[in-house]
Amino acid sequence: MAKMEVKTSLLDDMIGVGDMVLLEPLNEDSFINNLKKRFDHNEVYTYIGSVVISINPYRSLPIYTPEKVEEYRNRNFYELSPHIFALSDEAYRSLRDQDKDQCILITGESGAGKTEASKLVMSYVAAVCGKGAEVNQVKEQLLQSNPVLEAFGNAKTVRNDNSSRFGKYMDIEFDFKGDPLGGVISNYLLEKSRVVKQPRGERNFHIFYQILSGASEEFLCKLKLERDFSRYNYLGLDSAKVNGVDDASNFRTVRNAMQIVGFMDHETQSVFEVVAAVLKLGNIEFKPESRANGLDESKIKDKNELKEICELTGIDQSVLERAFSFRTVEAKQEKVSTTLNVAQAYYARDALAKNLYSRLFSWLVTRINESIKAQTKVRKKVMGVLDIYGFEIFENADNSFEQFIINYCNEKLQQIFIELTLKEEQEEYIREGIEWTNIEYFNNAIICDLIENNQTGILAMLDEECLRPGTVTDDTFLEKLNQVCATHQHFESRMSKCSRFLNDTSLPHSCFRIQHYAGKVMYQVEGFVDKNNDLLYRDLSQAMWKANHSLIKALFPEGNPAKINLKRPPTAGSQFKASVATLMKNLQTKNPNYIRCIKPNDKKAAHIFNDALVCHQIRYLGLLENVRVRRAGYAFRQAYEPCLERYKMLCKQTWPHWRGPARAGVEVLFDELGIPEEEFSFGRSKIFIRNPRTLFKLEDLRKQRLEDLATLIEKIYRGWKCRTRFLLMKKSQIVIASWVRRYAQQKRYQKIKSSAIIVQSYIRGWKARKLLRELKHLKRCNEAATIIAAYWHGTQARRELKRLKEEARRKHAVAVIWAYWLGLKVRREYRKFFRANAGRKIYEFTLQRLMQKYFLEMKKKMPSLSPIDKNWPARPYLFLDSTHKELKRIFHLWRCKKYRDQFTDQQKLIYEEKLEASELFKDKKALYPASVGQPFQGAYLEISENPKYKKLKDAVDEKIIIAEVVNKINRANGKATSRIFLLTKNNVLLADQKNGTIKSEVPLGDVTKVSMSSQNDGFFAVHLKEGSEAATKGDFLLSSDHLIEMATKLYRTTLSQTKQKLNIEISDEFLVQFKQDKVCVKFIQGSQKNGNIPTCKRKNNRLLEVAVP
Ligand SMILES: Nc1ncnc2c1ncn2[C@@H]1O[C@H](COP(=O)(O)OP(=O)(O)OP(=O)(O)O)[C@@H](O)[C@H]1O
Ligand SMILES: [Mg+2]
Repeated sequence: MAKMEVKTSLLDDMIGVGDMVLLEPLNEDSFINNLKKRFDHNEVYTYIGSVVISINPYRSLPIYTPEKVEEYRNRNFYELSPHIFALSDEAYRSLRDQDKDQCILITGESGAGKTEASKLVMSYVAAVCGKGAEVNQVKEQLLQSNPVLEAFGNAKTVRNDNSSRFGKYMDIEFDFKGDPLGGVISNYLLEKSRVVKQPRGERNFHIFYQILSGASEEFLCKLKLERDFSRYNYLGLDSAKVNGVDDASNFRTVRNAMQIVGFMDHETQSVFEVVAAVLKLGNIEFKPESRANGLDESKIKDKNELKEICELTGIDQSVLERAFSFRTVEAKQEKVSTTLNVAQAYYARDALAKNLYSRLFSWLVTRINESIKAQTKVRKKVMGVLDIYGFEIFENADNSFEQFIINYCNEKLQQIFIELTLKEEQEEYIREGIEWTNIEYFNNAIICDLIENNQTGILAMLDEECLRPGTVTDDTFLEKLNQVCATHQHFESRMSKCSRFLNDTSLPHSCFRIQHYAGKVMYQVEGFVDKNNDLLYRDLSQAMWKANHSLIKALFPEGNPAKINLKRPPTAGSQFKASVATLMKNLQTKNPNYIRCIKPNDKKAAHIFNDALVCHQIRYLGLLENVRVRRAGYAFRQAYEPCLERYKMLCKQTWPHWRGPARAGVEVLFDELGIPEEEFSFGRSKIFIRNPRTLFKLEDLRKQRLEDLATLIEKIYRGWKCRTRFLLMKKSQIVIASWVRRYAQQKRYQKIKSSAIIVQSYIRGWKARKLLRELKHLKRCNEAATIIAAYWHGTQARRELKRLKEEARRKHAVAVIWAYWLGLKVRREYRKFFRANAGRKIYEFTLQRLMQKYFLEMKKKMPSLSPIDKNWPARPYLFLDSTHKELKRIFHLWRCKKYRDQFTDQQKLIYEEKLEASELFKDKKALYPASVGQPFQGAYLEISENPKYKKLKDAVDEKIIIAEVVNKINRANGKATSRIFLLTKNNVLLADQKNGTIKSEVPLGDVTKVSMSSQNDGFFAVHLKEGSEAATKGDFLLSSDHLIEMATKLYRTTLSQTKQKLNIEISDEFLVQFKQDKVCVKFIQGSQKNGNIPTCKRKNNRLLEVAVP
């Protein structure tokens, strides 16, 4: 079985001591030895309380795997062996759960592993914090900002192949759940002098080498670059290649990271263009040229490079060329231009390259911040990670302005560390209710003051010198320092009036020395003024602003002539001081966590632990000081529960279980162990142990006791194992025995049982047979008796049946006869009622039904609405004959009415006349039917139009009702003469047809009668009143084709004029008065000699015969 390892405390399996606070005795040697021992066992992390010391292993250790992340996740800080993950976990959890903003301060010298440590912290936090697509993208962007910044801000140095040449502080922001929201990066003081010059054995920033090795030919061509490093003056040649570093693949990583962080393609392109421009600036060379006025001038040797730079950056070549040759100084309204000599031109070129690069770097940080900034406005919790250069002390007098600035920053960090550690310690004591004892420690505030004091500080002096008019050099600055700081305890100088150092040959005249908290550092003043000024000629910044390249233009806003500012820009020193002050303020609001990195050797090699080097670092990192502060009160503290859990086996009362509160248990325990009272104190939730010795004593006792306990446990376990085995065997034996016994008993019982069954069966068989015999006999007797009885009953029954059948037959016959008779009677009674009623009902119903059907069918078969339509459906039933006729009549009348209703007044008049004609002649005169179809026109002759009849028209001034040609029958011979027949409102006129001369005029009142035959002829006689004037010539016998019309109109006109009905006689024989004689006109059926025309013949005096064909 695999051995299970359950660690419950840092104290388990410790190599040396895991927490330096427990170191006994505490001195530099023991400190280093402890570190070394642990380092040799691959334990690179050690605690000082909550501070983590990390020693760079210079090789990859299998302690950062996902399994390790899981192991340290959600565990107490002291639960597992020291690890950077434990610190990260503690910081992350108190951020998430206790809502405390955190900062992780990583310090150490170059190559000690600060940047690696900061990445480990970030990757741990990324691994344990929330998951999800959005959160992962934020994490990825935060993590990928590292390769970009490293490419542009890191370089190979003698100390570190990937040395960060800038300070970095990154705030990672979280929401209330602990999911990352974004971040903000601040950068501090990029070492820009590296752009133009690198110390021996060092390189320029990685990005230059990465572009040249990794970019495609096409891309290089676009940037006007060549792959060969040696083509560029700015690239130190001696270590262009770094072992184990693949610049080409790193270039791809950087481009990929830029894409992930959110750089647009054109932005990436612009960035590389600026990098290329910087690289090419280094290749511009100047040569001296003397002018007539004796001034030194410089000239660019080969303008090709300048031309390419200008093409790349969109700067006007002449503008840049001028900026490299002249310097314009503006004072109030005046502008003075001076020429630059060769040295000044080189200075200007390098200043431009440095500025261009450092501003590009700051722009990159701003751009990354834009991408990674939190998108929400919710309240954020913050974890800051500070990866800043550690103390730098170069041998001899190589320390310059940069080291001064860096060491000042570390001095400030040390101060905040002391402040916060002490504060925390004090707060814990108060929280736990333990009396506070003052702790002796060195406060470096005095050194900070030496540097940053606003009046007498070194930085203030330097600024003053830089701004002072007159000649200013580094020496005048040193002089000033000597005057002002001479008496300061931590300031040393040869020139100082203080005689202490007058003879100190180790201190050159051009240097000053500061006693930093971490040791003495000698600074060479050369370059202080220049670096603090950080001058870029205005001509150059203006040339840059004029560039047709949006990024470069944005990098030099002060070049905008519209925004000319005569005020000097803040000096490098004051800028740094301000940013350090902001950083300190920020850190003070957060809960600090420290990682102090130590470099084990100078060779960048694994397994080598250089005691002297480590000792130096321990000193200047103030680690011993750190332990002392931590131990000043009590070396060790632990919550009551884990303490009791760990040591409860040391006391009978607490072992194996303590029922009361943990604190009481610890009190009992310590009392029982007899630990002196001054060695510990009881806080509210923790026990405080003053001396590590006490703790180790406890640990030893525990180890001892654990061994005893192990034996005891083994003993008890063995006993338990044997006893259980015995009990098991005993139990098994009983079970087996019981089974055997049972089996034997079962067998015996089976045997007895089967014998008993056999005997029993024999006896039962005999008894049964006997009983069977008896029963059979009884049964036969019963059967015989039954048969006899059955026969007897049968006879009886049949006889009875016969009788009953006879009786039933009779009864049935009577019932049938009775029923028939009754039925007959009833039918006879009711038949008549039934038939009479039913017949009528059926008849009525049928009738109704038939009528209904008749009407419905009639509806469908109705003829058209034309009054002359003769169609009428056939009569369906005889009994409906009268109804059918009546219906036809009603329908006809109705449609006639309908037809009439459509008439106009004129039509009405015509039809009235036609009706009149019908009343007068229908069925009386054979001519009538032929007239029905003829329209009654009246005026057949157009009297008024015909000039022939002008006289006639003038004579008749009334309205003419009829004007027609008629034949007047000559009474003498029966011959016809044509005459115009005119009927007016009052008269009847006859006129000559040829000239219209009126022959006779009869007033209507004198017309007494009109006679005509019943036949198909047009003859008619107009009888005149006897004695009237017209009657002298006798009646008129006339013939017309429009007899019916004429007679009708005459009748109507007479009626309306005289109010008397004109007598119309229809007879085939009538008398006509001729003068004095009355002649009979007789109509006979004649031959068709003259076609259809009737002929008239005078037979004798008294008879005129008309033959009608
Ligand atoms: N925990 C570690 N495990 C393995 N190798 C490490 C570890 N820490 C550091 N190193 C190695 O040491 C080298 C230097 O580390 P790093 O760059 O972090 O130093 P630094 O303290 O940031 O230095 P500088 O101040 O110059 O930036 C790394 O490139 C890496 O090879
Ligand atoms: Mg670094």
